[in-house]
Amino acid sequence: MQSSFQTVYWKNRQVVMLDQRLLPYEEKYNRYSTVQEVADAIQTMVVRGAPAIGVAAAFGVALAAIEADGNEERLLALCDVLAATRPTAVNLFWAIERMKKRISTHGTAPQEVLEEAERIKEEDIAACKKMGEFGEKFIKDGATVLTHCNAGALATAGWGTALGVFRSAVAAGKTIHVLADETRPRLQGAKLTAWELRKDGIDVTVISDNAAASLLRAGKIDAVVVGSDRIAANGDVCNKIGTYSVALAADAAGVPFYVAAPVSTIDMSCPSGDQIPIEEREADEVTHINGVQILPDGVPVKNPAFDVTPHTLVTAIFTEVGVFQKNYSESLKKILQP
Ligand code: MRU
Repeated sequence: MQSSFQTVYWKNRQVVMLDQRLLPYEEKYNRYSTVQEVADAIQTMVVRGAPAIGVAAAFGVALAAIEADGNEERLLALCDVLAATRPTAVNLFWAIERMKKRISTHGTAPQEVLEEAERIKEEDIAACKKMGEFGEKFIKDGATVLTHCNAGALATAGWGTALGVFRSAVAAGKTIHVLADETRPRLQGAKLTAWELRKDGIDVTVISDNAAASLLRAGKIDAVVVGSDRIAANGDVCNKIGTYSVALAADAAGVPFYVAAPVSTIDMSCPSGDQIPIEEREADEVTHINGVQILPDGVPVKNPAFDVTPHTLVTAIFTEVGVFQKNYSESLKKILQP
């Protein structure tokens, strides 16, 4: 059961991305042929979701190799343009570092550089499938599961992290019902999670963010599964704003709170969630919905895009190398050295 669309890919010396800003109204693929265009696409959220941002940046480095024409210094400067787009998702920096390492050992030849980007993409899909297989064992047949934001095929190179767990559960023959938080301010749950699960025939109902705690307390939700933009060495999980509230409510209701993420999302150089940079995005994401202003003129807003869920609220972390359970500081260190 493959997802029926592509998030980001390379074709004819261009990076092609499904324009997620237009979903669910329009399915349009944009083509980018310069590094600056790719950087702008990441910043303006044509492509979003931590692993997908990493893959897009890796293809951006492949474009940089063409633009730099053998000049390594210029190539590295173009990598910095890509790195300056979004601060929280560590997969962006992980992918760029991996591309730089490859360039330092194998040179700047565009075909070589592109091959590494393609490998990052393929490995991401494989990682999602593997973590899906591990994670789906924790989801019972007939379960109602809650997710926040979009951690699906749209947020990765394919399959998805949290939604990959659901795809794997369905592939294993289970019946599940997904509740998707709408996820203000940008509504990735209402627009993207609902779109991709619908498209792939997985049962989904959207709820307002405000409804999650009460449904958890009422015993209507069996498990929560979310993705992550960066996991600290102690297991603190940074994800879309509002995730922390869901985790608190799940804990109060005695419902397991799972995180699905590839190893590239784990930042062992970050001791705890307190060191994770939280992106502050434009005010118009809060003042407007679909271009329509909903606040009185001139009212100030705050718009942090992510929050941190302390590791004490996380029941387990599903990755492609296995499932981590408390105590995260010890278990993560055993597998991943900084
Ligand atoms: O701002 P976004 O849409 O890039 O935020 C995405 C998320 O918070 C996802 O939950 C996270 O990247 C995990 S994606 C597999």
